[in-house]
Amino acid sequence: MNKTAVIILAAGKGTRMKSEKAKVLHEVGGRPMLSYAIERAKEAGAAKTVVIIGHQAEKVREAIPDKGIVFVEQSVQLGTGHAVMQAEKALKRFKGDVLILSGDVPLITADTIKGLMSSHSKGKATLTVLTAEPDDPYGYGRIITDNKGRIKKIVEEKDATSKERSVREINTGIYCVGSEFLFKALKKVEPKNVQKEYYLTDIVGIAVNEKKTVSTFKAREFREVMGINSRIDLAEVECIIRTKTLGHLMANGVTIIDPSNTYISSSVRIDPDTVVYPGAFISGDTVIGTGCSIGPGSIISDTILGNDVKINAYSVIEKSEVKEGAVIGPVAHIRPQTVIEKGAHIGNFVEVKKSTIGAGSKANHLTYIGDATIGKGVNIGAGTITCNYDGFSKYQTVIEDNVFVGSDTQLIAPVRIGKGSLIGAGTTVTEDVPEDSLVLSRVKQITKKGAAKRYLKRKA
Ligand code: UD1
Ligand code: CA
Repeated sequence: MNKTAVIILAAGKGTRMKSEKAKVLHEVGGRPMLSYAIERAKEAGAAKTVVIIGHQAEKVREAIPDKGIVFVEQSVQLGTGHAVMQAEKALKRFKGDVLILSGDVPLITADTIKGLMSSHSKGKATLTVLTAEPDDPYGYGRIITDNKGRIKKIVEEKDATSKERSVREINTGIYCVGSEFLFKALKKVEPKNVQKEYYLTDIVGIAVNEKKTVSTFKAREFREVMGINSRIDLAEVECIIRTKTLGHLMANGVTIIDPSNTYISSSVRIDPDTVVYPGAFISGDTVIGTGCSIGPGSIISDTILGNDVKINAYSVIEKSEVKEGAVIGPVAHIRPQTVIEKGAHIGNFVEVKKSTIGAGSKANHLTYIGDATIGKGVNIGAGTITCNYDGFSKYQTVIEDNVFVGSDTQLIAPVRIGKGSLIGAGTTVTEDVPEDSLVLSRVKQITKKGAAKRYLKRKA
């Protein structure tokens, strides 16, 4: 096959989204919709990929930090034809076929693109339009054919007669076209239509007039070429991607109790015999081992879970690692850069940040652990707090192996507790503690027998 260049249209604002954000930056399946077209361009072996940007150009560049791409700006959005024209300079030295993709059609598959390209080259066509036949063609450009069924032109919904609107075959906005013809034809396109735009679709009529070979290639399924134009489309595509991702996971042995109520990005890997309960959100570069249980309402992002980890209900885990057999939650918050070692337990209303919790250690209730290194077999009592911040800087707490920290303890960092020590409940630890020490900092208790009764009597 000849070399192919790819042009991706991504400059539009997406008026129908009613958003300040450029349409192609809206996320589906956990990433910007534009990233899907870029992935397809790579798979198609593009010699060069030109992305036309305009609305929020800088933000689009930032969101797609790909060195193999040439970004070209379309400073005013005068239509899809005008957008493609902007690529002429970047493709000046390129001779061959151009694959035109739309930044708002994320479900297109590599297979369909392959089909389009091979039909184009087999038919020695100048222009091949990828079409589809949805139940409801509303909003799409219609494929108008002559009496022999050959494509004659494309008419936009807004410009169509009612007879033309009754045509069900639609333009997907994806094309394969010879570069030389493309840029010559675009110079002939005029903004003579209801929207006063330069329509890319007009090159079909131009090619037919010039007796070039123009053909169509129909996608097997409409759903994969549906464009996202509104929030309703966005939700529909999201649902399709989600269903596909969950389907893969279940096929690979993951139990998903309620697929209609479970949200897992396609980037996530989960091993067999893990069970995911309803309401879980799992995203980013998350990897989950085998035999895990992901409780209802858990939110897990960019995290590695070893085998047999139990995440109880409503826990949030970000950018951390939880090793084999550990138990988290219910209602625990594991913040970035935390490592929970094998078999450790982090219980309800416990927040851990940028800390290591050693193997088999436990912090089961109402605790804050920040900037701490905790050894093996440590017991952290309820209400323990590492006071890691003095309003200016963060300080470290080190708790060595087998320490017992009683309830309601404050550890004023920087501080180190030597191994095997016992910290009595209610202690404020301000100094380093040598190993095997007992530490108490309680005010001596005063008990006045019968005083309460006397006090109440006086008050009455
Ligand atoms: C376009 C097609 C329509 C087709 C549909 C398929 C035209 C005139 N119409 O309509 O036949 O059925 O796609 O989804 O081509 N864009 C720019 N610059 C512009 C305008 C648009 O880069 O000046 C980009 C948009 O960001 C978007 C893509 O081109 O990614 C398509 O634009 P959009 O306005 O969504 O076109 P449709 O009305 O959907
Ligand atoms: Ca569109």
